[in-house]
Amino acid sequence: MQITCITLFPDMLDALKAGGVVSRAIERGTVHFHAINPREYTHDVHRTVDDRPYGGGPGMVMKAEPMLAAIDAAKAQHAPDSRVVVMSPQGAPFDQAKAAELARLPGLILVAGRYEGIDERVMDAGVDDELSIGDYVLSGGELAAMVVIDSVVRLLPDVLGDARSAQYDSFVDGLLDHPHYTRPEQLGEHNVPSVLLGGDHKQIERWRLQQSLGRTWLRRPDLIARRTLSDEEQTLLDEFIAQHEHDTKRVHD
Ligand code: ADE
Repeated sequence: MQITCITLFPDMLDALKAGGVVSRAIERGTVHFHAINPREYTHDVHRTVDDRPYGGGPGMVMKAEPMLAAIDAAKAQHAPDSRVVVMSPQGAPFDQAKAAELARLPGLILVAGRYEGIDERVMDAGVDDELSIGDYVLSGGELAAMVVIDSVVRLLPDVLGDARSAQYDSFVDGLLDHPHYTRPEQLGEHNVPSVLLGGDHKQIERWRLQQSLGRTWLRRPDLIARRTLSDEEQTLLDEFIAQHEHDTKRVHD
Protein backbone atom coordinates (compact mmCIF):
# COMPACT_ATOMS: atom_id res chain seq x y z
CA MET A 1 0.00 0.00 0.00
CA GLN A 2 1.21 3.47 -0.79
CA ILE A 3 0.63 6.13 1.88
CA THR A 4 1.39 9.82 1.50
CA CYS A 5 0.88 12.41 4.21
CA ILE A 6 0.59 16.06 3.23
CA THR A 7 1.87 18.10 6.15
CA LEU A 8 3.75 21.26 7.06
CA PHE A 9 5.64 19.15 9.63
CA PRO A 10 6.92 16.07 7.78
CA ASP A 11 9.43 15.34 10.57
CA MET A 12 6.53 14.50 12.90
CA LEU A 13 5.73 11.51 10.70
CA ASP A 14 9.26 10.14 11.23
CA ALA A 15 7.82 8.68 14.44
CA LEU A 16 6.16 6.03 12.26
CA LYS A 17 9.60 4.72 11.31
CA ALA A 18 10.94 4.65 14.86
CA GLY A 19 9.81 1.11 15.66
CA GLY A 20 6.85 -1.20 15.88
CA VAL A 21 4.40 -2.65 13.39
CA VAL A 22 4.29 0.28 10.92
CA SER A 23 8.05 0.72 10.83
CA ARG A 24 8.49 -3.00 10.08
CA ALA A 25 5.88 -2.83 7.29
CA ILE A 26 7.79 0.10 5.74
CA GLU A 27 11.15 -1.69 6.02
CA ARG A 28 9.71 -4.81 4.40
CA GLY A 29 8.15 -2.83 1.53
CA THR A 30 4.55 -3.75 2.41
CA VAL A 31 3.98 -0.02 2.85
CA HIS A 32 5.59 2.77 0.85
CA PHE A 33 5.38 5.91 2.92
CA HIS A 34 6.40 9.46 2.25
CA ALA A 35 5.45 12.99 3.23
CA ILE A 36 4.84 16.02 1.03
CA ASN A 37 5.15 19.54 2.40
CA PRO A 38 2.69 22.01 0.83
CA ARG A 39 5.29 24.74 1.47
CA GLU A 40 7.24 23.22 -1.44
CA TYR A 41 4.29 24.21 -3.65
CA THR A 42 4.30 27.95 -2.86
CA HIS A 43 5.62 30.51 -5.33
CA ASP A 44 6.16 33.66 -3.27
CA VAL A 45 9.41 34.66 -1.52
CA HIS A 46 7.91 34.06 1.92
CA ARG A 47 6.58 30.63 0.92
CA THR A 48 3.22 31.53 2.39
CA VAL A 49 0.93 28.63 3.32
CA ASP A 50 -1.63 30.50 5.45
CA ASP A 51 -3.63 33.71 5.42
CA ARG A 52 -6.26 35.59 7.45
CA PRO A 53 -9.84 34.29 7.37
CA TYR A 54 -12.42 36.06 5.21
CA GLY A 55 -15.10 37.44 7.50
CA GLY A 56 -12.59 38.03 10.29
CA GLY A 57 -12.00 36.08 13.46
CA PRO A 58 -8.97 34.65 15.22
CA GLY A 59 -6.16 32.58 13.73
CA MET A 60 -5.12 31.77 10.21
CA VAL A 61 -6.47 29.52 7.45
CA MET A 62 -4.35 27.22 5.27
CA LYS A 63 -4.36 28.52 1.72
CA ALA A 64 -6.01 26.41 -0.98
CA GLU A 65 -3.43 26.64 -3.81
CA PRO A 66 -0.37 25.06 -2.12
CA MET A 67 -2.62 22.38 -0.61
CA LEU A 68 -4.28 21.53 -3.94
CA ALA A 69 -0.91 21.48 -5.71
CA ALA A 70 0.48 19.11 -3.05
CA ILE A 71 -2.58 16.85 -3.40
CA ASP A 72 -2.15 16.81 -7.20
CA ALA A 73 1.54 15.92 -6.81
CA ALA A 74 0.61 13.06 -4.46
CA LYS A 75 -2.14 11.83 -6.81
CA ALA A 76 0.32 11.75 -9.71
CA GLN A 77 2.42 9.26 -7.72
CA HIS A 78 -0.52 7.11 -6.63
CA ALA A 79 -2.70 4.39 -8.18
CA PRO A 80 -5.96 5.90 -9.52
CA ASP A 81 -8.16 4.24 -6.85
CA SER A 82 -6.22 5.84 -3.99
CA ARG A 83 -8.29 7.96 -1.64
CA VAL A 84 -7.64 11.53 -0.46
CA VAL A 85 -8.63 11.98 3.18
CA VAL A 86 -8.47 15.19 5.18
CA MET A 87 -8.01 14.81 8.94
CA SER A 88 -10.27 17.26 10.77
CA PRO A 89 -12.49 17.43 13.87
CA GLN A 90 -15.37 18.19 11.45
CA GLY A 91 -14.91 14.80 9.74
CA ALA A 92 -16.98 11.63 10.03
CA PRO A 93 -15.95 9.51 13.04
CA PHE A 94 -13.04 7.19 12.25
CA ASP A 95 -13.64 3.65 13.53
CA GLN A 96 -12.52 0.05 12.99
CA ALA A 97 -14.93 -0.47 10.06
CA LYS A 98 -13.46 2.59 8.34
CA ALA A 99 -9.92 1.30 9.02
CA ALA A 100 -10.86 -2.01 7.35
CA GLU A 101 -12.37 -0.14 4.39
CA LEU A 102 -9.22 1.97 3.91
CA ALA A 103 -6.97 -1.09 4.24
CA ARG A 104 -8.52 -2.51 1.06
CA LEU A 105 -7.38 0.49 -1.02
CA PRO A 106 -4.15 0.57 -3.05
CA GLY A 107 -3.20 3.95 -1.60
CA LEU A 108 -4.05 6.65 0.87
CA ILE A 109 -3.28 10.38 0.72
CA LEU A 110 -3.80 11.86 4.18
CA VAL A 111 -3.98 15.62 4.51
CA ALA A 112 -3.04 17.09 7.90
CA GLY A 113 -4.29 20.62 8.52
CA ARG A 114 -2.90 23.24 10.91
CA TYR A 115 -4.10 26.58 12.30
CA GLU A 116 -7.87 27.17 12.27
CA GLY A 117 -8.32 24.84 9.30
CA ILE A 118 -8.00 24.51 5.55
CA ASP A 119 -9.74 26.72 2.94
CA GLU A 120 -13.03 24.84 2.38
CA ARG A 121 -12.52 24.85 -1.40
CA VAL A 122 -9.80 22.21 -0.94
CA MET A 123 -12.51 19.88 0.43
CA ASP A 124 -14.75 20.70 -2.56
CA ALA A 125 -12.06 20.23 -5.20
CA GLY A 126 -9.70 17.46 -4.33
CA VAL A 127 -10.87 15.44 -1.32
CA ASP A 128 -12.84 12.18 -1.04
CA ASP A 129 -13.31 11.91 2.72
CA GLU A 130 -12.99 13.98 5.89
CA LEU A 131 -12.30 11.99 9.06
CA SER A 132 -12.12 12.78 12.77
CA ILE A 133 -10.40 10.54 15.31
CA GLY A 134 -12.54 11.80 18.19
CA ASP A 135 -14.46 14.66 19.74
CA TYR A 136 -11.46 16.73 20.81
CA VAL A 137 -9.28 19.22 19.00
CA LEU A 138 -5.63 18.53 18.22
CA SER A 139 -3.28 21.33 17.22
CA GLY A 140 -2.79 19.66 13.86
CA GLY A 141 -3.89 16.67 11.80
CA GLU A 142 -0.52 14.89 11.94
CA LEU A 143 -1.21 12.83 15.07
CA ALA A 144 -4.66 11.97 13.68
CA ALA A 145 -3.05 10.88 10.38
CA MET A 146 -0.64 8.66 12.33
CA VAL A 147 -3.54 7.10 14.21
CA VAL A 148 -5.22 6.26 10.89
CA ILE A 149 -1.97 4.94 9.39
CA ASP A 150 -1.26 2.69 12.39
CA SER A 151 -4.75 1.22 12.51
CA VAL A 152 -4.86 0.65 8.72
CA VAL A 153 -1.35 -0.78 8.30
CA ARG A 154 -1.80 -3.41 11.02
CA LEU A 155 -4.75 -4.78 9.01
CA LEU A 156 -2.71 -5.30 5.83
CA PRO A 157 -1.95 -8.92 4.93
CA ASP A 158 1.22 -10.30 6.57
CA VAL A 159 1.86 -7.22 8.74
CA LEU A 160 0.96 -8.71 12.14
CA GLY A 161 3.01 -11.63 13.43
CA ASP A 162 -0.13 -13.68 13.98
CA ALA A 163 -2.94 -12.93 11.50
CA ARG A 164 -5.48 -13.93 14.15
CA SER A 165 -4.51 -10.92 16.29
CA ALA A 166 -6.41 -8.44 14.10
CA GLN A 167 -9.36 -10.79 13.76
CA TYR A 168 -9.86 -10.89 17.54
CA ASP A 169 -9.33 -7.16 18.15
CA SER A 170 -11.78 -5.00 20.02
CA PHE A 171 -14.52 -3.56 17.78
CA VAL A 172 -14.06 -6.08 14.93
CA ASP A 173 -17.24 -7.71 16.11
CA GLY A 174 -18.74 -4.52 17.55
CA LEU A 175 -17.60 -5.51 21.06
CA LEU A 176 -14.71 -4.63 23.37
CA ASP A 177 -11.96 -7.21 23.83
CA HIS A 178 -11.97 -9.68 26.74
CA PRO A 179 -9.28 -9.51 29.47
CA HIS A 180 -5.87 -11.11 28.82
CA TYR A 181 -3.52 -12.81 31.28
CA THR A 182 -0.01 -14.24 31.21
CA ARG A 183 2.32 -15.74 33.83
CA PRO A 184 2.49 -15.75 36.82
CA GLU A 185 -0.69 -17.58 37.74
CA GLN A 186 -0.90 -15.74 41.04
CA LEU A 187 -0.02 -12.06 41.55
CA GLY A 188 -0.44 -11.20 45.23
CA GLU A 189 -4.12 -11.75 45.89
CA HIS A 190 -5.04 -11.80 42.21
CA ASN A 191 -5.38 -15.12 40.45
CA VAL A 192 -5.80 -15.87 36.77
CA PRO A 193 -9.45 -16.99 36.22
CA SER A 194 -9.44 -20.77 36.63
CA VAL A 195 -11.32 -21.41 33.35
CA LEU A 196 -8.22 -20.22 31.44
CA LEU A 197 -6.04 -22.82 33.14
CA GLY A 198 -8.25 -25.82 32.46
CA GLY A 199 -7.55 -26.32 28.74
CA ASP A 200 -11.26 -26.68 27.83
CA HIS A 201 -11.26 -24.54 24.68
CA LYS A 202 -15.03 -24.43 24.37
CA GLN A 203 -15.36 -23.12 27.92
CA ILE A 204 -12.55 -20.64 27.33
CA GLU A 205 -14.27 -19.28 24.19
CA ARG A 206 -17.55 -19.03 26.09
CA TRP A 207 -15.89 -17.15 28.98
CA ARG A 208 -14.10 -14.76 26.62
CA LEU A 209 -17.29 -13.96 24.72
CA GLN A 210 -19.12 -13.40 28.00
CA GLN A 211 -16.37 -11.04 29.23
CA SER A 212 -16.47 -9.14 25.92
CA LEU A 213 -20.24 -8.76 26.17
CA GLY A 214 -20.11 -7.81 29.86
CA ARG A 215 -17.35 -5.24 29.47
CA THR A 216 -19.08 -3.68 26.49
CA TRP A 217 -22.35 -3.52 28.46
CA LEU A 218 -20.55 -1.87 31.40
CA ARG A 219 -18.26 0.49 29.54
CA ARG A 220 -19.85 1.10 26.13
CA PRO A 221 -23.63 0.60 26.35
CA ASP A 222 -23.87 2.52 23.04
CA LEU A 223 -22.13 -0.39 21.27
CA ILE A 224 -24.53 -2.94 22.80
CA ALA A 225 -27.53 -0.83 21.75
CA ARG A 226 -26.25 -0.75 18.16
CA ARG A 227 -25.68 -4.50 17.91
CA THR A 228 -28.17 -7.36 17.73
CA LEU A 229 -27.25 -10.17 20.11
CA SER A 230 -27.78 -13.83 19.26
CA ASP A 231 -29.76 -15.92 21.75
CA GLU A 232 -26.51 -17.39 23.08
CA GLU A 233 -24.95 -13.94 23.46
CA GLN A 234 -28.05 -12.61 25.26
CA THR A 235 -27.94 -15.58 27.69
CA LEU A 236 -24.23 -14.98 28.35
CA LEU A 237 -24.84 -11.27 28.93
CA ASP A 238 -27.82 -11.91 31.24
CA GLU A 239 -25.63 -14.26 33.26
CA PHE A 240 -22.87 -11.63 33.41
CA ILE A 241 -25.35 -8.93 34.51
CA ALA A 242 -26.82 -11.18 37.23
CA GLN A 243 -23.32 -11.94 38.53
CA HIS A 244 -22.35 -8.26 38.34
CA GLU A 245 -25.47 -7.21 40.28
CA HIS A 246 -24.81 -9.90 42.87
CA ASP A 247 -21.17 -8.74 43.28
CA THR A 248 -21.98 -5.03 43.51
CA LYS A 249 -24.82 -5.68 45.98
CA ARG A 250 -22.41 -7.61 48.18
CA VAL A 251 -19.99 -4.65 48.17
CA HIS A 252 -22.76 -2.20 49.15
CA ASP A 253 -24.35 -4.42 51.85
N1 ADE B 1 -7.25 17.68 13.63
C1 ADE B 1 -7.45 18.32 14.79
N2 ADE B 1 -8.24 17.62 15.61
C2 ADE B 1 -8.55 16.47 14.96
C3 ADE B 1 -9.34 15.33 15.27
N3 ADE B 1 -9.99 15.22 16.43
N4 ADE B 1 -9.44 14.36 14.35
C4 ADE B 1 -8.83 14.49 13.17
N5 ADE B 1 -8.07 15.51 12.81
C5 ADE B 1 -7.92 16.51 13.69
